[in-house]
Amino acid sequence: MLVPIVTEAQINDALDRIAAEIRRDFGDEPLLLVGVLKGSLYVLADLSRRLGPNVEIDFVQVSSWHGGRSTSGIVQIRKDLDISLEDRNVIVIEDIIDSGLTIQHLRELFATRRPKCLKVAALLSKPEARQVDPHVEYIGFEIPNEFVVGYGLDDKERYRNLPYIAILREDESVS
Ligand code: IMP
Ligand code: MG
Repeated sequence: MLVPIVTEAQINDALDRIAAEIRRDFGDEPLLLVGVLKGSLYVLADLSRRLGPNVEIDFVQVSSWHGGRSTSGIVQIRKDLDISLEDRNVIVIEDIIDSGLTIQHLRELFATRRPKCLKVAALLSKPEARQVDPHVEYIGFEIPNEFVVGYGLDDKERYRNLPYIAILREDESVS
């Protein structure tokens, strides 16, 4: 069963706010947005279009999740970036910060590549699920420690295309 918790309108408001915060911090400086595949797909698409023309986009893919509903604790790079981070203003874009392991790993890895500045933006955060506590500069919503889908987030590749965020409850016969 899908229980909606964040509406499309609320997502749009949060993205407006995050875009304003980013432009307040960086002015008109060029940005490199790094989307973490696949979950960040809609956040990256919708946030990048709020940030004006001086924006580059690249992707990284990591695996720590293995299609299940709890993290394995091991973060592996499956697809690395095409663009160099050196001297760029880099913002890593995530759908959700859960245990914090993925973003902690990416922050440490990307910091070694000498970016001018490195920040993280995530639409959702589950503070109660943290195992490590990496810095996240821009957050859309804090949500309870429940499994959610939609707006990029999946359950075994399903539900990513929902335009809103919903808690996925075990009784799937009703959905
Ligand atoms: P972390 O490394 O535990 O912070 O997990 C980050 C990744 O786990 C996210 O980018 C998501 O792909 C996935 N994830 C965490 N929580 C959820 C959820 O509630 N629904 C779907 N995917 C999730
Ligand atoms: Mg993800």
